[in-house]
Amino acid sequence: MSDNEQKVIRAAEFIRSEGKDSPEIAIITGTGLGDIASRIEQPVFIPYEEIPGFPVSTVEGHPGKLIQGILGGKPVLVLQGRFHLYEGYSPLEVCFPIRVLQMLQIKILVVTNAAGGLNLSYTAGDIMIITDHINLTGENPLVGPNRDDWGLRFPDMSRVYDRELAGKALEAAAMLGLDVKQGVYAGLRGPSLETPAENRYLQRIGADAVGFSTMMEVIAAVHARMRILGLSMITNINNPDCPEPTTLESVIRVAGKAAGRMESIIVRMLEGWDAEPGS
Ligand code: HPA
Repeated sequence: MSDNEQKVIRAAEFIRSEGKDSPEIAIITGTGLGDIASRIEQPVFIPYEEIPGFPVSTVEGHPGKLIQGILGGKPVLVLQGRFHLYEGYSPLEVCFPIRVLQMLQIKILVVTNAAGGLNLSYTAGDIMIITDHINLTGENPLVGPNRDDWGLRFPDMSRVYDRELAGKALEAAAMLGLDVKQGVYAGLRGPSLETPAENRYLQRIGADAVGFSTMMEVIAAVHARMRILGLSMITNINNPDCPEPTTLESVIRVAGKAAGRMESIIVRMLEGWDAEPGS
């Protein structure tokens, strides 16, 4: 067994020994969604640095901890803070938490992120359900020997984002009277933001939004046979014909304003699940 695999197993054992229920649903929160923790009942907090082998996040707006508890009446595991390629983490490190979730038998993964809008019908503050993605990071977390008991050598990517989960998110948004968009997320490595020519290119290849996270985790989660819901918070609009500067401060400010809506959609979705979706 590789070093990484041993670390994954040890981290999962540690979390199992600290937690209570065994949730089937995990949520990875991106920029600005850290506050979902305040909606969790009976929370058990595990800082990343206490989990053996777990990377520690370095980005502003991404405090690193794992929270186990009840959200919308369902046991969940929330990963508050994630790891990005642009921080210098390898794809293996970025996906470490996903492999730990796999060991913990997580079946449903909700990934959230902040993204720049490329679809000009969007406005800053919109929430987009990810229908598909374009991985432009130049990386893939499955490169190297395949661990067959973890997943297939060539995982199918024709339906990465679960349609039933997306439908549930749409229903939840409708019940709350919230408008949500649906679109394609382009994942870049970053950290430099896009030039107008790059934004035009991304629009032409069919992307509705662009960001620097999610690709590695989602590919590992497909390999791990998880059902995935992806939610992007559109924090700025990247119009190549009318370029405007984007700052981290403005991204965090808009994300902070839209976070409550995204949290409400997730909570309402969970409340509506009487049975395991798809069963
Ligand atoms: N580009 C990349 N990542 C982002 C953006 C953007 O415009 N906005 C928020 N995250």
